[in-house]
Amino acid sequence: MQDVQLTHRPVISATGLFTPAESISNEELVDSFNRFVDLQNQRHADAIEAGEIEPLQHSSVDFIEKASGIKARHVMNKESVLDPEVMAPRWSERPDDEISIMAEIGVIAAKQALEKAGRKPEDVDAVLCAASNMQRAYPAMAIEIQQALGIEGFGFDMNVACSSATFGIQTAADYVRSGNAKSVLVVSPEITSGHLNWRDRDSHFIFGDVATAVLVEDEAIAPDEHWAILGTKLKTVFSNNIRNNFGFLNRAHPETSDNADKLFVQEGRKVFKEVVPMVAQMIIDEAGKLQLDPAAIRRLWLHQANAGMNRLIAQRVLGHEASADESPTVLDTYGNTSSAGSIIAFHKYSEDLAPGDTGLICSFGAGYSAGTVFVRKAA
Ligand code: COA
Repeated sequence: MQDVQLTHRPVISATGLFTPAESISNEELVDSFNRFVDLQNQRHADAIEAGEIEPLQHSSVDFIEKASGIKARHVMNKESVLDPEVMAPRWSERPDDEISIMAEIGVIAAKQALEKAGRKPEDVDAVLCAASNMQRAYPAMAIEIQQALGIEGFGFDMNVACSSATFGIQTAADYVRSGNAKSVLVVSPEITSGHLNWRDRDSHFIFGDVATAVLVEDEAIAPDEHWAILGTKLKTVFSNNIRNNFGFLNRAHPETSDNADKLFVQEGRKVFKEVVPMVAQMIIDEAGKLQLDPAAIRRLWLHQANAGMNRLIAQRVLGHEASADESPTVLDTYGNTSSAGSIIAFHKYSEDLAPGDTGLICSFGAGYSAGTVFVRKAA
C-alpha cells in the first residue's frame, strides 16, 4: 500500500498577523478599573456600611505584571473598554451585506500570509476559521473569509478555545497528508475583549485582540522558504476550570440576571498547576516519538497566557531556564490572545533561525486542550 505521508508532506508556507492600532497599558487599565470600583462602592455605600455586601477592591499594576508578565494589550475598541460606566467593547452592528468584524481582521492577516507565500486565492483549497469565539453561529466565519478572499473550495469554523489554531494546523496538515487539499488557510481572528469580564479584578488584565493566519501547504507547491511540519499531536481533557457559558440556549435578560458566567471565568491557580505538567509531558513524549531531543529544540513558540507557566514548561522541556531567544514572549505587548498567541510568537520570532533548525509551536487552554506542532526550517 502506498504511504500517503511520503507523497504529501505538509509545511507551513507563510503566516500573517493583524494587530489592532489601539493598545491599553496596565496603568490605563488599572486607572479605569479603580474608578469603576470607587463608583460602585459609592453607589452601594449604605449596603457596605451595613455589612450586607463586601466593598470591591482596587486592582494593581504591580500585581498584573508579576502574576502574568502582561504590560499592555491591543484592543479593537479602547474607549468603551476604559469607560468605567461601560467596560466592554462596543461597536454598531453591521448590516448583513457588510463584512463582519471578525472576518475583516481575519482577511487582513490571511492576505499577508498569501502575499508572503506568493499564493493566489484561486490556488487555495480551504479556509478554516479556528478561534475561541465566533461572532455568530452561521454562516461560518470561514466561509465569509473565503468569499472575501475569492477562494473556491470550502471553509468551516472550529473552536477549541486557546488551542484552536494548533488544532486547525493539524486539521489542515491532515487534508494535505491525505491528498484532499494542497493549500489550506488557518485563520484565527481573536476578539477576546468581547468575552473578557473587564469588571472582574482577578481576570480583567488577561486578554487582548489580534488576528493571525497560517498557510499550510503540500511541500510540492510550497515556496522555497517554508517550515516542514515534522509532527502534530492534539490532546483534550475535560475541565471546568476555564469556562464560558454564553450560548444560544441561555440568553438571560441583562437587566435581571447575573451574567458573569456568560463571559470568561477561570480558576487561574488550578489551571496553572494542572496544565503545566500536562503540556510539558506531552511535548517531551511527542519529541521522543519524532526522535527529537527535547533539549535540542532551538525555539519554543508557546501559548501566551502567563509568563510563569511558560517559564516552567520551557524549563521542563529544555532542562534549563529558557532564554528569551529560546522561548520568546509576546505577552508583554499583546497579553493573552487566546489561540493566536503561539502563532504571533512564531510569526515575529522565526525568521532569524537557520535552515535545519527545529522548533515547536504549542498551545494550551480551555477544555483542557493542548496542541503541538513540531517544525523544521527548510534548507
Ligand atoms: N490586583 C491586585 N491583586 C489581585 C488582583 C488584581 N487585579 N487579582 C487578584 N489579586 C489578588 C487576590 O485577591 C489574591 O490575594 P490574597 O492572596 O490576599 O487572597 C492574590 O492576588 C493572588 O490571586 P490569584 O488569583 O491566586 O493570583 P495568581 O498569582 O494565581 O495569578 C493568574 C492569577 C490568573 C494570572 C494566574 O493564576 C494564571 O495566569 N493562571 C493560568 C491562567 C491561564 O493560563 N488561563 C488560560 C486562559 S486561556
